[in-house]
Amino acid sequence: MSLDPRNLANVRPSRPPEICAIVARSIPGHVIGHGGRLPWRLKSDLAHFRQKTTGRAVIMGRKTFTSLARPLPGRLNIVLSRHPQPRQDGVLWVTGTNEALEQADAYSRARETNEVFIIGGAAVFTAFLDVTSRYWVSEVSTGPIPGDTVFDYEFRAPEWCRVSRVSVGAGENDDYGFTISCFERRKPENRLWPDRSGADRQA
Ligand SMILES: NC(=O)c1ccc[n+]([C@@H]2O[C@H](COP(=O)([O-])OP(=O)(O)OC[C@H]3O[C@@H](n4cnc5c(N)ncnc54)[C@H](OP(=O)(O)O)[C@@H]3O)[C@@H](O)[C@H]2O)c1
Repeated sequence: MSLDPRNLANVRPSRPPEICAIVARSIPGHVIGHGGRLPWRLKSDLAHFRQKTTGRAVIMGRKTFTSLARPLPGRLNIVLSRHPQPRQDGVLWVTGTNEALEQADAYSRARETNEVFIIGGAAVFTAFLDVTSRYWVSEVSTGPIPGDTVFDYEFRAPEWCRVSRVSVGAGENDDYGFTISCFERRKPENRLWPDRSGADRQA
């Protein structure tokens, strides 16, 4: 079936969803995992995670998925693995990043949501880093802790702009206090230094 060009005026291209990521890491050390699990109990951060990701497609690595008791409810669980995996209700296995994004885009269009979330672990944060435009980063005041998985990326100006930061005290079900920052990636044309002499670049 071909489309009459006169009808093209009625075709409204949908905007692709923003690719967002959400991570919690230790200060110092940027540890995100140990022994295949999170290195802390932080109920308040899990509530933040749930609030941001519910209703969205979430993309994760096979190891992160294995660490969960069950697929995350109320979200499309897209799980990356290079190997065939047994079918499982509530889980969409994919073998590459493009396939993950295609599935996430389709889900977002159907649900009319404007964000998809990369939720880790380190291998998957890294695989999507170049295309992620918003990062929610919880920095957990652990002091030095053991960890076998780190996410050591630095959100540097002028590429990234911290647009919010809130402190959260340790609640009854939290091992530590933490801060939640949101970083937005500037478009290349907006990556201007305020001081053209370059003095700020040394800061
Ligand atoms: N603090 C946090 O915010 C946070 C968030 C998430 C996870 N974590 C922690 O991080 C640790 C897990 O992280 P991780 O980096 O070791 O593992 P991961 O990223 O969860 O999973 C890695 C696996 O995902 C698959 N994969 C990754 N990139 C792929 C690609 N481009 N194409 C196809 N498949 C791909 C591969 O699976 P196959 O080997 O099956 O091919 C790979 O072995 C755990 O301790 C977890 O608790 C922490």
